[in-house]
Amino acid sequence: MANSFASRTFTALSDLYPNMANLKIIGIVIGKTDVKGFPDRKNIGSERYTFSFTIRDSPTHFINVTSWGDEDYIKSLSDSFRVGECVIIENPLIQKKEIEREEKFSPATPSSCKLLLSENHSTVKVCSCYEVDTKLLSLIHLPVKESRDYYSLGDIVANGHSLNGRIINVLAAVRSVGEPKYFTTSDRRKGQRCEVKLYDETESSFAMICWDNESILLAQSWMPQETVIFASDVRISFDKFWNRMTATVISKTIITTNPDTPEANILLNFIRENKEINVLDNEVDSYLKESINLNTIVDVYTVEQLKVKALKNEGKSDPFFGILYAYISTLNIDDETTKVIRKRCSSCGYIVNEAADTCTTCNKASLEFKSVFLSFDMLIDLTDHTGTLHSCSLTGNVAEETLGCTFVLSHRAKTGLKISVLSCKLSEPIEASRHLSGQSHV
Ligand SMILES: *[C@@H]1O[C@H](CO)[C@@H](O)[C@H](O)[C@H]1NC(C)=O
Ligand SMILES: *[C@@H]1O[C@H](CO)[C@@H](O)[C@H](O)[C@H]1NC(C)=O
Ligand SMILES: *[C@@H]1O[C@H](CO)[C@@H](O)[C@H](O)[C@H]1NC(C)=O
Repeated sequence: MANSFASRTFTALSDLYPNMANLKIIGIVIGKTDVKGFPDRKNIGSERYTFSFTIRDSPTHFINVTSWGDEDYIKSLSDSFRVGECVIIENPLIQKKEIEREEKFSPATPSSCKLLLSENHSTVKVCSCYEVDTKLLSLIHLPVKESRDYYSLGDIVANGHSLNGRIINVLAAVRSVGEPKYFTTSDRRKGQRCEVKLYDETESSFAMICWDNESILLAQSWMPQETVIFASDVRISFDKFWNRMTATVISKTIITTNPDTPEANILLNFIRENKEINVLDNEVDSYLKESINLNTIVDVYTVEQLKVKALKNEGKSDPFFGILYAYISTLNIDDETTKVIRKRCSSCGYIVNEAADTCTTCNKASLEFKSVFLSFDMLIDLTDHTGTLHSCSLTGNVAEETLGCTFVLSHRAKTGLKISVLSCKLSEPIEASRHLSGQSHV
């Protein structure tokens, strides 16, 4: 019944041509952008809003839909549906697509048309999944690219710099989904960022960054070590700071969650078979290192300024970050009374009781043996011309990099102390002398 309902009432996306009137179409939403505001040139002082989405009604046909209007209309329309839901659109305006210009920013669609929605003429209705044909619903698991047209994570890493800036497809499993971080840019725009860690048979951890709410929302629905994704048209770049390749979700990107393809099923079997090992192998993700792009830290502080800011920040849970030019005035690694190396649980990252060798934090829930690893755990004093910061924590990888020595097994460590060193490098003498002599006014 659902089938005849669909075929009788709606025009197929494959049959659309420019300027067709009185149209009614149905499709599943496979991609969606955030709402953006632009200054209205005709109405100085006011803003026009827009967002786009992509709908699909068959394995081969999908189309990009753009809507413009005032803030209320666009925001409520955008809030009314999500990726994975089906919508019925009545009276959209059909226009011919300007392929070259548009596909730079939007998903490459097989249709030669695009749809425009206007508040006065078009309507969008979200339909319940019970009303629609299961054939339509199953399209959400079909990648928009040929199922074999992707790079493995190992290929990307192996190709390195040569893939920098390229837009490619990736098939991978989700290892972890980071907490979304919200921030305000220097020009007072709101921003957000979420880092997803991917893995596959060839690579144990690979970062994919989401900068828009829609992809962050989608990522929040993924299950670590269970979800496989096919991300079409992600941008690959080389992260100079971490010396690693990363993928970024852009406006062209369409992500298919749990793709129904032979290649994805092979990967799914792999992650199921290797699940146990992965849990133990899983790197302990340090809150600090995972969520912060050191390149974004630009504020320079003196010790005194840091103390003042810390006082103002008291009671707020959010940490703040900065650069400090200072001397390491205490680095006590010989004193037997202070511990320099600690055992941490490789599953949860908490410090393990010296005598016990097993983790009491996460072992409460499980009888399974959790292995431990060694991690530096030091307290250092940092001094500049304005004062000294006592007991700053220097742990895990940062400590290993700073001291230039490492354990056989290197892991990241969690830290709960107030001041943490994210990176410690010799500074340029001229740059440092400028800050240490107090000439800089920040
Ligand atoms: C749709 O196309 C417009 C350009 O016409 C683009 O700005 C937008 O990002 C596209 N969005 C989606 C989801 O296809
Ligand atoms: C929509 O309709 C309203 C009221 O009829 C009118 O004021 C407005 O200009 C129309 N907007 C567009 C984009 O046609
Ligand atoms: C993204 O979500 C945050 C938090 O809900 C919100 O403050 C922000 O305005 C949203 N941004 C966009 C572009 O929708």
